[in-house]
Amino acid sequence: MVHQTRSKLTALFPHAQHPVIISAPMLGTANSTLAAEVSKAGGLGIIPAGFDFTPSSTHLTTLDSELSAARTKLNILPTVSKYDDPLPVGAGFILSHPSFLTHFLTTALPLLRANRPAAVWLFAPRADDVASGAVRTAIAALKAEGFVVMFQVGTVAAARQAARDGVDVLVCQGVDAGGHQFAGGAGVVSLVPEVVDMLAQEREELGLGEREVVVVAAGGIVDGRGVAAALALGKFSCVCVVQFTVAEEAWTPEFRRNLILETRDGGPATVKTPVLDDIQGTPIWSGIYDGRALAGKSWQDHAAGMPLEENRRLFKEADKAGDTSRKITWVGTGVGLVKRIQPAADIVREVRGDALRRIRGLQSAS
Ligand SMILES: Cc1cc2nc3c(=O)[nH]c(=O)nc-3n(C[C@H](O)[C@H](O)[C@H](O)COP(=O)(O)O)c2cc1C
Repeated sequence: MVHQTRSKLTALFPHAQHPVIISAPMLGTANSTLAAEVSKAGGLGIIPAGFDFTPSSTHLTTLDSELSAARTKLNILPTVSKYDDPLPVGAGFILSHPSFLTHFLTTALPLLRANRPAAVWLFAPRADDVASGAVRTAIAALKAEGFVVMFQVGTVAAARQAARDGVDVLVCQGVDAGGHQFAGGAGVVSLVPEVVDMLAQEREELGLGEREVVVVAAGGIVDGRGVAAALALGKFSCVCVVQFTVAEEAWTPEFRRNLILETRDGGPATVKTPVLDDIQGTPIWSGIYDGRALAGKSWQDHAAGMPLEENRRLFKEADKAGDTSRKITWVGTGVGLVKRIQPAADIVREVRGDALRRIRGLQSAS
């Protein structure tokens, strides 16, 4: 029976149930309560860890307290040391800030060692840090501590490099995804099978040995239909879902929840561009990456020819005045399918159950 299936992912995360529904590390949106509820329901909740690795960084102090809070919420209290009792949640870092190179091993690693999340999710390294081997060194250090390393990629080339660098899980993010992603990416329907084929064909060149790299699909997957489709793309595929942006537990403010709930037709309603980061002043994304968000006022003015400086000025002024109309709402094309606010655990159970019913339905139809 499909519902009893163990998968490569449930072998890595024994608390989870197949197909594993993953709540991505959405910076500013996800938190320990959301992650704990997702994991309690048999999914995998990832707490966003941010990008600033400097010693006094608020990203790291917040991560520390959020991981402790998740431990309390999951009632997994340490026996001898935290080391003995891994937490069934992950911590998700963005690597594109220069402080990754200078501080990851001395600030983030000890914090992770003390808190023992089950997974460490990495995304968006700078090209130089990949080429120099700094990313490989960080992955090796995490693996040496026993962490499952998940790495989000948007191209086959990046997947190849990450597999060579030693990751356990490749999260293949398609261009429908909300938030930041590869500027030159592909949709999950072609990206995932091409990565699965690449891993099978290049096992030797990649030095995989007995190592199995698990493939997860992300981007535009919202409900059981998307999960069932993603599972068909490769035998290891499992999924990320962005309905969690409006989960009861998310930190998403009211105005964003309303925008997400009322938006339909996610293709034209969103835009994939580097310009919105230029307008809101988030210069951590190198040219490899851009972001998908609602095509709101800032974008419409840009598209109508407003100079960048003027757009930035209006953005700042509105922000200062508490006017949310120019704010950026990072969200993917799946936004049109998000229709209600639910507890995170209900989302996990509903999406997983619906995916299994659809897979069974396909089996009996054939
Ligand atoms: C609001 C928001 C914040 C995000 N923040 C992060 C992040 O901090 N780190 C990360 O690796 N991915 C982040 N992502 C991207 C997700 O990891 C994932 O690729 C994406 O949400 C999947 O596509 P979907 O939105 O269509 O479900 C974010 C996405 C959104 C919508």
